Amino acid sequence: MCGVVGYVGKEQAAPILLDGLAKLEYRGYDSAGVAVFGDSIKVQKCEGRLKVLHKKIKGGSSMSGTMGIGHTRWATHGEPSDANSHPHTSAEENVAVVHNGIIENYLELKDFLKNHGCVFTSDTDTEVIAHLIDHYHDHDPLKTLIKVMNKLEGSYALGIMFSENPGELYAVRKDSPLIVGLSKGGNFIASDIPAVLPHTRDVYLLNDKEIVRLTADAVKIFNTDEEPIKKDVYHVEWDVSSAEKGGYEHFMFKEIMEQPKAVRETVRPRVKRGKIVPDEFQMSPEDVKNIDKIHIIACGSAYHAGVVGKYLIEKMARIPVEVDLASEFLYRSPMITNRTLMLVISQSGETLDTLRALREAKRLGGRVLSVVNVVGSSIARESDDIIYTWAGPEIAVATTKAYSTQLAVIYLLAEYFAVQKGIKNAEQTAAFLDELAKIPAKIEQIIKNTENIQFLASQFAAAKDVFFLGRGIDYAVALEGSLKLKEISYVHSEAYAAGELKHGTISLIEKGTPVVALATQDELFDKIMSNIREVKARGAVVLAVVPENQPTAEQFADHVLYVPKTIPELTPSLAVIPLQLFGYYMAAERGCDIDKPRNLAKSVTVE
Ligand code: AGP
Repeated sequence: MCGVVGYVGKEQAAPILLDGLAKLEYRGYDSAGVAVFGDSIKVQKCEGRLKVLHKKIKGGSSMSGTMGIGHTRWATHGEPSDANSHPHTSAEENVAVVHNGIIENYLELKDFLKNHGCVFTSDTDTEVIAHLIDHYHDHDPLKTLIKVMNKLEGSYALGIMFSENPGELYAVRKDSPLIVGLSKGGNFIASDIPAVLPHTRDVYLLNDKEIVRLTADAVKIFNTDEEPIKKDVYHVEWDVSSAEKGGYEHFMFKEIMEQPKAVRETVRPRVKRGKIVPDEFQMSPEDVKNIDKIHIIACGSAYHAGVVGKYLIEKMARIPVEVDLASEFLYRSPMITNRTLMLVISQSGETLDTLRALREAKRLGGRVLSVVNVVGSSIARESDDIIYTWAGPEIAVATTKAYSTQLAVIYLLAEYFAVQKGIKNAEQTAAFLDELAKIPAKIEQIIKNTENIQFLASQFAAAKDVFFLGRGIDYAVALEGSLKLKEISYVHSEAYAAGELKHGTISLIEKGTPVVALATQDELFDKIMSNIREVKARGAVVLAVVPENQPTAEQFADHVLYVPKTIPELTPSLAVIPLQLFGYYMAAERGCDIDKPRNLAKSVTVE
């Protein structure tokens, strides 16, 4: 996944491009570059973080021109290097291109172009696009781009400049996100809204295969039939600071601290006079009874939220639930009918595995409800129904507040389905919602006292392997705790259903092995305590996460982290918080780059 920016207007472009790229570094940060159109197209690009490029072009002052494109890269084709960084150009810089996505047929196109005399200087798929545009260019950019789009297979968000067309910036997208920023001082393209927020709150959210021509004072959008498209302006409500660190050392810590607000703002608009109103997603009791299965598809932490969803929807609403990794769903001939409700969960709404699984599910006849954090994202726009999580922009690669708001939506849906099926009455729902309304304050209680967690993380900082155990819904949370730890601290970790450990993996437990045991379910408490005894007998050092009403855990575990008591269904929202903090502090102890972990990107828009 990469970050794309572009600008055309009255100001010098290079400094604007650098500022925009700084807001997109979370999308990829192994190399960066800009192309600025002064009296001709000039390119400056290099391997390394954005600050290397910034220094190379003296903050942009060494490049003059009021139009340009910029790029920050997360390598897919070709290792990070000066030559592989974007922008890429055709011969004599006739065409300059920046690209986010993957061209799946780039090798055959590259052969075709080589046979037509093209000389390549990089290993990237993007350079193929630049030469292809130049190859087909017949002095009409719109026609050329439509022709090229018909040749490309894969995903792309492109910023393009033609040396013949000064003052005209072009953009097109398919599967990868791209927005257009509108302002009196000029117009912008960007992979994500924060890049344009310092200049404008008014944006166009581009759909697939829309082609944009931007000049300093006009933006025109066309479809692939060359017909102009009229679009509504989306006015961004959230403020620039919410996309900034706000005084915290890391975005991740800021976003952990924002969870009470994020959960509150996600739940509140969906509860009206004691009833659950999931926005426009309405299903009559007959509709709900007609659902033969709910099929959840997602990746990473969103998948872990989906596993919680399986436990809860089956327990509360008695509807069969399957939960699938999106990348697996695509290739296992899933059994979907028009009575299947697909639940697609994604923070970014751009994860390509999930987007492609969504399309496959729709092709098979499923109705798609998506739970997404980014308004107007590709997954949102291709769903039949959407319930947005109102977590606000999440910048840290490791998700926290978005995951917590996904849980909140899952609680609401499970209760909604139970009501529609006549399993829950108004009084029971009122009690459920009353407890749900207390969750933000209970999260607040945990994040206000992080010292003990920080201390424990320092004790385990040198660990080579950490195991997370849980039973039932605690197992689903253990999955998330394990991912948080490994993705930002680079410590190997596994989450295990506690009852399964004895069937093999317990052989890995040895003296000093850290084990984090979740024991929030009273009905399973004794069983998990016996699992703790099992691993302690083999030398493990156990950190238990238990509700405040379970002090007996101290007789079994070496360390106990208490979370406020709540009803069993809502414990994931509380049990996950110490695990997020544990991972954060372990990573801090180990000097890791917490917001931008190695090899990772915030939204994975490649398969
Ligand atoms: C979570 O901390 C990870 N960054 C990653 O697993 C993420 O959850 C996954 O890539 C899915 O992203 P999405 O929610 O934007 O679709």
